[in-house]
Amino acid sequence: MNINHDKQVSQQHAGVVERWEKIDNRFYFYGPQTVLEVKVVSDTVLRFRFSALGNFSRDFSYSHAHTYQESIEKLEISEEEEYFSIKTAKIDCEIQKERMLIKILDKKGLVISEDEKGFHWEEHKKYGGEIVFNTRKGQASEHFYGLGDKSADNDIREKRFENWGKDTYAYGKDTDPLYKNIPFFIGLHHKVAYGIFFDNTFRTYFDFGFERKNATSFWADGGEMNYYFIYGPELLNVVETYTNMTGKPELPPLWALGFHQCKWSYYPEKQVREITSEFRTRRIPCDAFYLDIDYMDGFRCFTWHPEHFSNPKGMISDLEKQGFKTVVIIDPGIKIDPNYRIYKEGLEKGYFCKRMDGPLMKGAVWPGECNFPDFTRAEVREWWAGLFDELMDTGVRGVWNDMNEPAVFEIETFPDDVRHDYDGDPCSHRKAHNVYGMQMARATYEGVKKFGHNRRPFVITRSGYSGLQKYSSAWTGDNVASWEHLSIANSQCQRLNVSGVSYCGSDIGGFIGSPSGELFVRWIQLGIFHMFCRVHSSGDHGDQEPWSFGLEVELLTKKFIELRYQLLPYIYTTFYQHVKTGVPTLRPLPFVAQEDSETYNRQDEFCMGDNLLVCPILAEKVDGRWVYLPEGKWYYYWDDKVHEGNQEVWAEAALDRIPLFVKAGAVIPMAPIMQYVGEFDPEQLFLHVYASAEEHTSYLYEDKGDGYEYTQGESSYKTFVTASEKKSYTITQRIDGTYDPVYKSYEIMVHGLSFTPKSCEVDGEKVHMDVINPDKNLIRFDAGKAFAKIVIKG
Ligand code: NOJ
Repeated sequence: MNINHDKQVSQQHAGVVERWEKIDNRFYFYGPQTVLEVKVVSDTVLRFRFSALGNFSRDFSYSHAHTYQESIEKLEISEEEEYFSIKTAKIDCEIQKERMLIKILDKKGLVISEDEKGFHWEEHKKYGGEIVFNTRKGQASEHFYGLGDKSADNDIREKRFENWGKDTYAYGKDTDPLYKNIPFFIGLHHKVAYGIFFDNTFRTYFDFGFERKNATSFWADGGEMNYYFIYGPELLNVVETYTNMTGKPELPPLWALGFHQCKWSYYPEKQVREITSEFRTRRIPCDAFYLDIDYMDGFRCFTWHPEHFSNPKGMISDLEKQGFKTVVIIDPGIKIDPNYRIYKEGLEKGYFCKRMDGPLMKGAVWPGECNFPDFTRAEVREWWAGLFDELMDTGVRGVWNDMNEPAVFEIETFPDDVRHDYDGDPCSHRKAHNVYGMQMARATYEGVKKFGHNRRPFVITRSGYSGLQKYSSAWTGDNVASWEHLSIANSQCQRLNVSGVSYCGSDIGGFIGSPSGELFVRWIQLGIFHMFCRVHSSGDHGDQEPWSFGLEVELLTKKFIELRYQLLPYIYTTFYQHVKTGVPTLRPLPFVAQEDSETYNRQDEFCMGDNLLVCPILAEKVDGRWVYLPEGKWYYYWDDKVHEGNQEVWAEAALDRIPLFVKAGAVIPMAPIMQYVGEFDPEQLFLHVYASAEEHTSYLYEDKGDGYEYTQGESSYKTFVTASEKKSYTITQRIDGTYDPVYKSYEIMVHGLSFTPKSCEVDGEKVHMDVINPDKNLIRFDAGKAFAKIVIKG
């Protein structure tokens, strides 16, 4: 939509404040006809709602942000000559009397964000209501991040975007809109970060100095100007707060953080058995195996193809015995077929979406003509969740929701006039489109959880709105097997992470087309650092199993999938931290080194969790690359060489390596190689300690890996502190929680001591120590899993 902000004619603005009132933590400023509500949500979060006509609509949001409330330390209002000033413990907000322009400052007086035109609107001639706008001043050297799955460079300044979920087969760099609708961005200037979450589900637009260099605008085709301002000052604080507001996921089952293999489609049963056996014969770890649409009978959801899968229960149970968990696809389109139970039920109960004048919304997808459940209606979600009873009873462990933008052949998506319940406040598709997919994922999640026999649910979705992470993981849709797409996948997953969706990944190897063996290896190397790690392809351009590219590629793929499994304790801990605090699992470089403006435009490297820095190789035929390391000391994972931060370093990375650095001081917990989660109970857990002169704290979260005992206290969180003195190195462990892991002891490897180690004591007792590499002072020894203090002396 080509909106020109300078066209003054038909746009109206808020007008002069005539009176104001305070109700608890909400302030109302009344103009001639307008009203502004400022709600102090916490010391760092303010919510702004504007109404052009003086009346607000129902306060409801699928993001659930409106129910978020934190304690407020301080709340004051004062009236100055030209403005009102609301002060919290962290920020000051000025509301200018003349036009209700908003200015937000930190306690040092730095203007963090400031309206230029502020709230204004234009009548929507075609649909009625208003197109609501907000235009703010661009701040000096401002950088912008966020907005979900956009395939743009990480820093999105000087760009414009649109949120209107779309099935974008073979999208490319800068294709917009894409599948997801996450109207949340982060701004960074003067080393201070803030976020804006525009909680409006209509088609929304964001302009970061694209139309006019010094203006940042966001607007929507309808609904309310309703946004949250989130103060950092750290970038990570902004993401944490946003994620807490829109909801955090529950811990996934540990297997779902393992490796997943998928294709469109593995069928019939014989092929499924062959491929899964192949994984075990070749000893390539894999936990999840996917069935795409061809497992169904004529693409009818919740059915099985009678010939291709004549005994799904038997097959799934055999796969389980080999450690494979079966994940199946479920689309929203329900085939119009009077002999199909689910169609009949949906029809009889009136659960399908209707067109404005009464007929059902009809559209073609894989099964042919379909009707579509209205997932914005609570009763329909409940019905949908109930449909998973049988499917879960078959042994299925996870469900994959696709096509839920919603996608419809030929007409792209539902026409605007389609009606939705919107949980009791009926509306057209214009308002419901951007949440449709998320409400489907929500209903699916509820079903998978309900019938999961007390196991943790696993759901994956293609579309979603802010807060989708409460219900589901996500993937980036139909990408292409190209080097450019490897780089897009890297940016998209970082971007999704800072937009609340940590549990995400791309189709490794590319969905469309065939990757070269080299590209496949490079993609696997990146993919093992994404929380969702799945190979998927359209299947019509050649195979994409790890062994499809010859022995060299197979062995390299195996090596990196093995590394994923070795790192699972660290990855699980990282996920746990995300669930606990909302901190993203992947942290783009500026998010870990905000003080260092060198990092602001760097987009290839990111940290996964607290202690690993990854910088994928994104080009063909290279043996390494330059990597910028933030402040501190970093070990190169492959040779233990220590590098100083605050500079670019060359990372040797022939095809058997990905540039991977470990923060000095870190304790990285690692598991033995396994073929799937739960294959065996390890005797030992490995702790790799990377010595540093500085004190450093690392963590390890543990529980059973599935089920809900962890919510009853059966978990443990271990804190390791490493500290150095001239000729001694100490590692302490504090254990919080009661979970007792099955392994008996730790095998500890200390890398890079600055002195020649002579002895090692665990809780005051001398233990045997092997010097593995005297040149690098690499040592190993065993320690009881409950040790409190280890001292290595030189
Ligand atoms: C489109 C999805 O994006 C893709 O992953 C899937 O394989 C096909 N639909 C077929 O179900």
